[in-house]
Amino acid sequence: MAKQEDAFKKVVSHAKEYGFIFQSSEIYDGLSAVYDYGQNGAELKNNIKQYWWKAMVQLNENIVGIDSAILMHPTIWKASGHVDAFNDPLIDNKDSKKRFRADVLIEDYCAKLEDKAQKEIEKASKRFGESFDLATFETTNTRVIDYRERQKAILSRMAKSLDNNDLADVKALIEELEIADPDSGSKNWTDVRQFNLMFGTKLGASAENATDLYLRPETAQGIFVNYLNVQKTSRQKLPFGIAQIGKAFRNEIVARQFIFRMREFEQMEMQFFVQPHTELDHFEAWKKKRLNWHLALGLGQESYKFHDHEKLAHYANAATDIEFKFPFGFKELEGIHSRTNFDLAAHEKFSGKKLQYFDPEKNENYVPYVVETSIGLDRLFLALFSKCLKDEVLEDGSERTVLSLPPALSPIKAAILPLMKKDGLGEYAESIYNDLKFDFNLNYEEKDSIGKRYRRNDALGTPYCITVDHDSLTDHTVTLRDRDTMVQERVKVADLRRIIDEKTNFRTLLSQL
Ligand code: GAP
Repeated sequence: MAKQEDAFKKVVSHAKEYGFIFQSSEIYDGLSAVYDYGQNGAELKNNIKQYWWKAMVQLNENIVGIDSAILMHPTIWKASGHVDAFNDPLIDNKDSKKRFRADVLIEDYCAKLEDKAQKEIEKASKRFGESFDLATFETTNTRVIDYRERQKAILSRMAKSLDNNDLADVKALIEELEIADPDSGSKNWTDVRQFNLMFGTKLGASAENATDLYLRPETAQGIFVNYLNVQKTSRQKLPFGIAQIGKAFRNEIVARQFIFRMREFEQMEMQFFVQPHTELDHFEAWKKKRLNWHLALGLGQESYKFHDHEKLAHYANAATDIEFKFPFGFKELEGIHSRTNFDLAAHEKFSGKKLQYFDPEKNENYVPYVVETSIGLDRLFLALFSKCLKDEVLEDGSERTVLSLPPALSPIKAAILPLMKKDGLGEYAESIYNDLKFDFNLNYEEKDSIGKRYRRNDALGTPYCITVDHDSLTDHTVTLRDRDTMVQERVKVADLRRIIDEKTNFRTLLSQL
């Protein structure tokens, strides 16, 4: 645990030290769970967005992208159910004065039971070696069965209580399980209450005439209310999708774990509009497609797992999360939901406008069903950053920190490093920089020893370092150093554009999909 915490602290401090992420309003002591992206963070974030947008919009003829406003008509949030039901159950600890999500306290308790089951499995797997059969062990070992049955019983009781808004029973469950404040150990809890997560704001110049608005808690509703505008103007037929990247705001009760849970964050969402009764096939297809998209990043199959929802929201008929192994355990990275026709039907009802699609093949009108894929951009940033940040001990015993990001996503594609500024090396390096800058985001660095400059670029995730030396002036070659292998080779200046492009373009990633 301590090791995990250290690794996570390292992620946070590295993100700051190298200009990826800063605490918002830092000079005023910060604003809780709000972060600013620095010069390298903004580049990495833009590259992640491009990877998603290209995979969705550019590679699929039947998906188009939009950019809808953050401020929307307030009735939208009534129709979507957010005004009445976008709540989290909160509980305060009377001694520590800390606030928690009651459901998360219970889920964390269950996660500990699962950890215990996993430990039994690990022990047995070591003991039996090659002959270990996981499926048989899981279904026959009484300890594992007990840990799992307890989790199931607890979670299903919690789900039932939350469904019935029986918050007294949620508190009773916390007390029966003897759940303590994880930091202080106190079990002195207040009652559980519902807390709406939407941020309110006002539209209008004078207090009397102002209209109450909300900052959108998801980008999806901007897609739903525009679906017919887009369908008609793009002449799409079902099935077709609308993609969007944008900010969302949630007044999260517990906002810890750095950029994992923020109050202002970005989502990349796609609503896929389909014929009724075909939605579950599309849901399965999108599960596969989205997992492949993640796997192409090369963070390892073992870093992901699906978590199918047993208990579904009232509007969904299937839902799953793609979970990622963050430094603090497997947690939701992306949600894939089959949302039936709930949202569009609700907007028809609340707006009084028909939102039906005319199906020319069936010659009938109906409200399409929707399969949604929704990923938090900041969460993917954290997933990449935490998995790619490594401390390595080199053959000569020295150490380096390297951020081995997929090259297409790296903020800087190459660093141009004259061995020294004098003897015309600076001018020659600058001419390379000025030529390549039209194609790539580059670093130009003259200061410090070449070793230090290599280390700094490793820590930034720069795939290539290009060193200009005296020979470069006469034979027009440079030393090209690869971030991951640290192999250095002599290449012609004229070949640099091709070499860097081959390694860092999006085609390499996208062609795996
Ligand atoms: N339109 C569906 C929707 O918003 P969600 O599961 O509430 O579903 C989708 O959110 C994704 O948005 C999550 O999987 C997560 O990656 C991201 N997300 C949600 N809340 C977040 C927060 N407070 N901070 C950062 N990312 C968040």
